Amino acid sequence: STAGAFRIVAHPSPATEAERIERVGDMKFGMSFTDHMARITWTADGGWDDRRIEPYGPIPMDPAASVLHYAQEIFEGLKAYRWADGSVWLFRPEANALRFQKSAWRMALPELAVEDFMGSIRAFMSVEKDWVPTAPESSLYLRPFLIGTDVFLGLRAPKKVDYLLIASPSGPYFAGGVKPVSIWVEKDFHRAGPGGTGSAKCGGNYAASLRPQIEAGARGYDQVLYLDAATGLVLEELGGMNVFAVRSDGSVLTPVLNGNILEGVTRSSVIQLIEDQDLKVVERNITLAELREGIDSGEISEVFACGTAAIVTPVGRMGSDDFEVTVGDGQPGPVTLAVRQRLTDIQYGRADDAFGWMQRV
Ligand code: COI
Repeated sequence: STAGAFRIVAHPSPATEAERIERVGDMKFGMSFTDHMARITWTADGGWDDRRIEPYGPIPMDPAASVLHYAQEIFEGLKAYRWADGSVWLFRPEANALRFQKSAWRMALPELAVEDFMGSIRAFMSVEKDWVPTAPESSLYLRPFLIGTDVFLGLRAPKKVDYLLIASPSGPYFAGGVKPVSIWVEKDFHRAGPGGTGSAKCGGNYAASLRPQIEAGARGYDQVLYLDAATGLVLEELGGMNVFAVRSDGSVLTPVLNGNILEGVTRSSVIQLIEDQDLKVVERNITLAELREGIDSGEISEVFACGTAAIVTPVGRMGSDDFEVTVGDGQPGPVTLAVRQRLTDIQYGRADDAFGWMQRV
């Protein structure tokens, strides 16, 4: 389909400019939402049907809806950026559309056509463009998701599913500029195991990260870094971000996609941007022991995390039950800052889009 396939049910009283500003407030991540949402309903008999843009609001569902019991849910995150000339742009949206299909496959949910994913965003943006904020580093965070709405307690792939798209005018996930975060390396809990759902963007992976996150918070750390479940030796990712380590010679390491790791769109973009600077990026297994020794000896000078919401976030300190280290001098390093700048320059139209990543809405 295209945007034109979506029926538009206009909000009876969309926010005025003053109401928008009031509702959006200081643009903390994911706190406020726009007037509309996109929706498509799928049934096993009828396929994808009833493409519409409708007023944002509660989605009443039967208490036996399968998502409420068996967590049949996947989601995506991408952003619409406002450039200085007022135009609005998406960053690599097809990458999200394709990942959404892969996640759906793993969770036995129907795969939404790329044209429907894109059509929902374009139809949605045609009514919600004014919600794309202008403040530095702000954007309209788009959250497509898919839920099983089958009314049945038997465990099976749902025969009814709802796709929705909502949007939140937001600043970066971590407020306060490029402040380094601290990371707890988790040894007791794992995020994903071999053959599990680690590379699917399903809500359950994120739910499982919350207990470790609370425990790490109580120990004074901002975020959790997970190790592989099979050996407990190899770095995987954070609760909602991929991780990179920079060597003092400028080469960069990041965990290879081993089936347990989310294939971040920002991760792949960061790899391309670093390689484009004639620096080497090596995707391979990185052990915690190697990381610790590297930080201790100074051979690893920077660590950073990245994701759509978090952009590129420096890591200043790492620790676990048996160690604590400051990364470099604890401040954002040059490679981290440069790749963050290059990425955001492209996203906000301040630099040439040499990779063809941006799409005008
Ligand atoms: C994103 O970065 O878009 C994510 O989906 C991570 C989430 C924890 C906000």
